[in-house]
Amino acid sequence: MSILVTGGAGYIGSHTAVELLQAGYDVVIVDNLSNARADVIDRIEKITGRRPAFYHASCADPKELERIFSRHTIDAVIHFAGFKAVGESCRKPLQYYRNNLDSTLCLLEAMERFGCRRLVFSSSATVYGMNNPVPYVETMPALSSSSPYGWTKVMNERILTDYAAVHPDASVILLRYFNPIGGHASGLLGDDPNGIPNNLMPYVCRVAAGQLEKLTIFGNDYPTPDGTCLRDYLHVVDLAKGHLRALDYAGTHPGVEAINLGTGKSVSVLELVRAFQNATGVRVPYVMGPRRDGDLPEVWADCSKAKRLLGWQTELDMEEMCRSAWNFVKRHEA
Ligand code: WQD
Repeated sequence: MSILVTGGAGYIGSHTAVELLQAGYDVVIVDNLSNARADVIDRIEKITGRRPAFYHASCADPKELERIFSRHTIDAVIHFAGFKAVGESCRKPLQYYRNNLDSTLCLLEAMERFGCRRLVFSSSATVYGMNNPVPYVETMPALSSSSPYGWTKVMNERILTDYAAVHPDASVILLRYFNPIGGHASGLLGDDPNGIPNNLMPYVCRVAAGQLEKLTIFGNDYPTPDGTCLRDYLHVVDLAKGHLRALDYAGTHPGVEAINLGTGKSVSVLELVRAFQNATGVRVPYVMGPRRDGDLPEVWADCSKAKRLLGWQTELDMEEMCRSAWNFVKRHEA
């Protein structure tokens, strides 16, 4: 069985490709490398001993997709490809809508043409918007977001739902991620964003490595126990394994299912910084700064549906999340 992994050279995509190869699947990766490096393919091979087929191309290019689906028998698709920087999306909304929506539309047209009926989509907790109470449950309205990036997730969930409605034999799983962090135990894969990281853990790692001077904690006056925001951080390897469970489930369950992938627990920014220092023995200098626009005080998951439907729950703890994130940066210090 061949699985097409769009954006498979990226952070979550590469970890998922490793799990797929180790589970015996054949993997085809298409990635335009706009936020990933080609040598990730070599590292996937080094970890697994198996090399995925790789196409350096955009998912929004119908000719490239035609080429891929003609050359490989694609049994299912895991769709990660998309721009994902929240702040950047506020500065470049058109690029985000064009890229993130065209990729999905072109992919679905190719799947329709070649009779591929199984898709797992990389969605996000951001679709729950600003007004739902925590912990988020999949039955809550997921119809708004606070950035063009988040809106592309809401719109893609709508596109996929309407696509499935006219293909009764299709299976679509919308995986709503919370905050994935950490890296592969080998130290060969991790969160390696271009430029200055937007997200907390990669920023903490670069401060710990001396590549950035200090961390600014965006706000310590929130209505939370220590005043800093609460998030549901989960290990990227746990998240990757959730995709294989979703793939299995989609194989026997037509229709659309939205499923949260998180730990069901919340951790504050300060708690994460302290956990990182304890796990690594490395100090992380920080200062308190003003709140960041769009941040919510609390975001965390009710993940009982993932347990019930997929038999999935996280297994790796915060100490391993921190240690593996640091291990990756140490091995790849610029
Ligand atoms: C976490 C906490 C910040 C950086 C985003 C997207 C979401 C998903 C995950 C893709 C917040 C604080 C951060 C820093 C800080 N991405 N922080 N100083 O915003 O919860 O979620 O990434 O799917 O869609 O919205 O993650 O890591 O950016 O922030 O204090 O330098 O860390 O204020 O409270 P976030 P994050």
